[in-house]
Amino acid sequence: MCQMSKDAILILDFGSQYTQLIARRIREHKVYSKILPYNTSISEIKKLKPKGIILSGGPASVYDKKVPHGDSHIFKLNIPILAICYGMQWMVYALGGNVVQADKHEYGRTSIEILDSSKLFRSIKNKFFVWMSHGDYITEIPADFEVTAQTSNTPVASIANKAKNLYGVQFHPEVTHTNYGKKIIENYLHNVCNCTANWNMKSFIESSCENIKKTVGKEKILCALSGGVDSSTAAALAHKAIGDQLICMFIDNGLLRKNELERVIEIFQKNFHINLDYVDAKNRFLEKLNNVVDPEEKRKIIGNEFIAVFEEEASKLGNIKFLAQGTLYPDVIESVSIKGPSATIKTHHNVGGLPSTMKLKLIEPLRDLFKDEVRLLAKELGLPDEIVWQHPFPGPGLAVRIIGAITEERLDILRESDYIVQEEIKNYKLYRNIWQSFAVLLPVKTVGVMGDKRTYEYVIGLRAVHSHDGMTADWVKLPYEILDKIANRIINEVMGANRVVYDITSKPPGTIEWE
Ligand code: XMP
Repeated sequence: MCQMSKDAILILDFGSQYTQLIARRIREHKVYSKILPYNTSISEIKKLKPKGIILSGGPASVYDKKVPHGDSHIFKLNIPILAICYGMQWMVYALGGNVVQADKHEYGRTSIEILDSSKLFRSIKNKFFVWMSHGDYITEIPADFEVTAQTSNTPVASIANKAKNLYGVQFHPEVTHTNYGKKIIENYLHNVCNCTANWNMKSFIESSCENIKKTVGKEKILCALSGGVDSSTAAALAHKAIGDQLICMFIDNGLLRKNELERVIEIFQKNFHINLDYVDAKNRFLEKLNNVVDPEEKRKIIGNEFIAVFEEEASKLGNIKFLAQGTLYPDVIESVSIKGPSATIKTHHNVGGLPSTMKLKLIEPLRDLFKDEVRLLAKELGLPDEIVWQHPFPGPGLAVRIIGAITEERLDILRESDYIVQEEIKNYKLYRNIWQSFAVLLPVKTVGVMGDKRTYEYVIGLRAVHSHDGMTADWVKLPYEILDKIANRIINEVMGANRVVYDITSKPPGTIEWE
């Protein structure tokens, strides 16, 4: 991102799962922010000249051994501070107050009462709900501080030393579950730090381009382009930064949607004039997938084959040092949690799975962004709406939408059916309101009758879901008229399918893809 020039907020990360969310909230108010570790030196902080510092929450208790303690000189810098959850407890501890370990943790939605509505709590109600997540609580506040909010379990839910512009909140204003959370952050930025709202996606593009140019110099960047919004945006951004030094590679694995290759060539080669290396690897993938039924096995084969093709092709391109990827912040979180104790439900295959032995240095310009921010960025970069707003499409493609063995015949039937689903959802102007809509091919045949003739063909499942992030989803109550239209068209236009069913399972318990 950009240098800490004017009006930037520094976020010191004490290990909260919400740290990036704080940065995102600040961006929403058009202010630039930078996240650094909690132990960033005072001299470094001074060099950055932030207009405000936010101390994030964190999983620790100030009394645990090996807990993150910042440098308490930070409170003497004359820079306004907002300390959140653990950050507030550490501030209290560092400034001579007292924090005690509680028997019970306070977790979840809690009603709060504001005792002082100046600056931080300006223009919000006196009582509202906030999101709490803490074990320790404060029994004694430091000298020159006052308590500015309380809850029934937490007498010190918020504190302030207004003369020194030091503020602390026990709850998390950055999460959407906290009413007025956005307003509290806005108040901090504008009433406490006097920031000007002068950051936007244009500034993001400028600073990202500068960074990419500086990192890459005269070298080349390779980018695996899938045509999805993330890799397309990363490619468009890298292209803006270094033009012809960018080479995009599009691998046709034979599991793509109808017209996908043509679309990618049209947009990226013809309109953006990006160097595009198209690799036809259909046969390689389909041979490896022959008779494979197990979904995880399919995913592994596709992942490994992708890496093999990518490496072979990359080596043909000569000495390339950098690889650009459209990794987003939720992908970063997901890969972290994959290392944790939670069970693997599905092995997601992205380019992120490329082996470390590749020796290509990673460029991940979207790493701090969330999906909706990437869409804004894509728009700003001039990508067409069909890329900006397109539904997610899984890395292993149609392979996870054919249940059982994959054959060319089944791929053709699914491709045509899926095309009709997309067309009708768009015709009925529902595409933008839905997270995903697609067809699935079931490996069973049922009897039908068409024009007095008996048919014995495949079943097509329809899936349409609403979701914010793909983690949970609700099935879409599509009007009967649309279902009727789609079913009719599939049965009449697609050879090999004679029955259509609609999936009314939410996630959980179902997943979005059938596999
Ligand atoms: P599930 O099926 O796990 O899907 O409920 C959640 C979301 O993730 C997408 N998905 C993938 N995306 N690579 C991707 O980039 C994958 O391997 C993959 N598998 C599932 C899925 O389409 C849905 O939006």
